[in-house]
Amino acid sequence: MGFFDSAQEVFDKGVSAAKGAVSGVAVEQQAFVKGFVRLCDDGWRQGWHERNGGNATYRLSPEDVQGCRSFFYDTPSSWVPLAQAAPNLAGECFLATAAGSLMRNVADDPATNVGIVELDATGSAWRIVWGFKGGGVPTSELPSHLMAHTVRKDATIGKDRVLYHAHPSNVVALSNVLPADARIVTRALWKAMTECIIAVPKGVGALPWMVPGGVEVARATAEAMVGRSACIWAQHGMFASGATFDEAFGTMHAVEKASEVWRKTRMVAAALGTQPIEIPDAGLRAIAQTYSLAIDESMLD
Ligand code: 13P
Ligand code: ZN
Repeated sequence: MGFFDSAQEVFDKGVSAAKGAVSGVAVEQQAFVKGFVRLCDDGWRQGWHERNGGNATYRLSPEDVQGCRSFFYDTPSSWVPLAQAAPNLAGECFLATAAGSLMRNVADDPATNVGIVELDATGSAWRIVWGFKGGGVPTSELPSHLMAHTVRKDATIGKDRVLYHAHPSNVVALSNVLPADARIVTRALWKAMTECIIAVPKGVGALPWMVPGGVEVARATAEAMVGRSACIWAQHGMFASGATFDEAFGTMHAVEKASEVWRKTRMVAAALGTQPIEIPDAGLRAIAQTYSLAIDESMLD
């Protein structure tokens, strides 16, 4: 690929500037890249990323772009058209995991396992401007990430920057027994564990099984995430959005833990021949009031 130029070779030798610049913090050393790498590594350590499972993207701030533009390739890749344009993301840059990359390898070699893509002036095509060393390309779920960024950027007035997709076992197991219905799934999770409604006050979206990587699942995900920071993909995994890496990771973690508690509770209750004890709706309302949560009231009876 044209973007894999000699600048990268200079970079590999530990020189902080790849294009003749004499100063600057290498892309790998930028705070947003370190945060991104930690997210990937934390998810791997949680067991949410078998093989190449899962992916992540981060929408760079203008300061982030300014801090690493001097390291961008002199010759970026050619433009790749998007199946659906994202006009409100026009000109923005995204850090993304590489398609087929393993989350367990990101920390060892960020420049190979992640990269930065830039959208064109109309938000209808992308090109690689940094990373993806050795011919990599952004995650196959780029359509879902970009469409979800589109809606989350608008919904949060620009605050949300992180989109994280993982394959946590208990979330997948939950989706294998509950219908893909946001209200049913949200109530199951909220009622299993007190902190869950605090982590996802708008609840979680729930999509039926769909072919991954396509524009159809991307549209459905974006629709489900207009008013919510999380969406479960049945028999697959989950998407979480956040203003920070902590927020996106924390949302994934809380939903996964509530799913685990839900599953274990039912297994033990079934073994004992008892009914699970759940937080009543009045209790959920009381949590919302105590913590001033703007919950989705339609989830409650
Ligand atoms: P990528 O390796 O293309 O990111 O795909 C992994 C995945 O989880 C697909 O849903
Ligand atoms: Zn996946």
